[in-house]
Amino acid sequence: METLRLIVVLVHLIGFAVLFGSWAVQAFGGERKITRIMDYGLLIAGVAGLALAAPWGIDGPLNYAKIGTKLVVLLIIGAMLGIGSARQKRGQAVPSAVFWLIGILTVTNAAIALLWR
Ligand code: HEM
Repeated sequence: METLRLIVVLVHLIGFAVLFGSWAVQAFGGERKITRIMDYGLLIAGVAGLALAAPWGIDGPLNYAKIGTKLVVLLIIGAMLGIGSARQKRGQAVPSAVFWLIGILTVTNAAIALLWR
């Protein structure tokens, strides 16, 4: 069971890498656009995160305040991706606050995962 849980953590980290990596490509030297791959990264991190939030019963009690906070942050990232891509479809630029929030909130969720014990 522990190995299975660690595999889900790995998938969760791949989702994080896909989301943050695709955002970083756009942020640094890119066109600061929202790309499809960002949605996939968020989806992978979200599904694996929810699976990790199930009571596996091996790692002690789960910190539901922390997990709930991460879920709220994930939903805000999803909203920013939605707002940004809607603007793009109308031929407008992604507002810079929306674009930067995606990266900042992604790092925030990784920081919450690691620093909130
Ligand atoms: C953009 C969204 C997210 C990012 C960047 C992210 C990032 C991370 C990272 C880096 C870890 C590894 C921490 C470690 O090795 O201890 C982790 C673990 C974990 N994440 Fe996420 N996460 C995200 C969303 C979520 C969501 C939505 C949930 C649940 C609803 C969640 C639940 C968990 C759980 C339960 C763990 C297991 C280890 C722990 O308790 O800290 N994550 N996450």
